[in-house]
Amino acid sequence: MVQKVLFVCLGNICRSPIADAVFQHLVKEMGTADEWVVDSAGIGGWHVGNSPDHRARKILRNHNVEYDGKARQIEKEDFNNFDYIFGMDEDNIADLKQYAPADSKAKILLLGDFDPEGKRIIRDPYYDSGSDGFEVCYQQCMRSCKAFLEQL
Ligand code: 4NP
Repeated sequence: MVQKVLFVCLGNICRSPIADAVFQHLVKEMGTADEWVVDSAGIGGWHVGNSPDHRARKILRNHNVEYDGKARQIEKEDFNNFDYIFGMDEDNIADLKQYAPADSKAKILLLGDFDPEGKRIIRDPYYDSGSDGFEVCYQQCMRSCKAFLEQL
């Protein structure tokens, strides 16, 4: 059975596209890509249609992780379409829970709750001047996505 997972952050140009790309990369490596639908979205609509931030694209390239997604805003239907919706921080979780329809089927989870190193909040590197924070964000997403897949 296909399972559907959606990664959500504020703008869908930094954290959630990295998590989306990492998850797709991991299931490809595991040979289970055909068992998953993977997507990402933003709470806000400011960057709809845009590619990820150039620093996010650079970090993914450095790790040979492909990504061709474009930003979109979360929609009500997502809560019935996806099995899992992962937020990157507590604000995302609060916004998701507030926006979720009463009959939402999706499990709304904090991605960092799966991090074996216990870093619960995925680093938000958008306002950084450089790209070091993007590497931190990448490593957190990698650890958490791996651990999520391993515990299923
Ligand atoms: P993201 O980062 O939520 O990780 O994609 C941000 C991107 C844009 C904005 C904030 C955070 N913004 O305010 O435009």
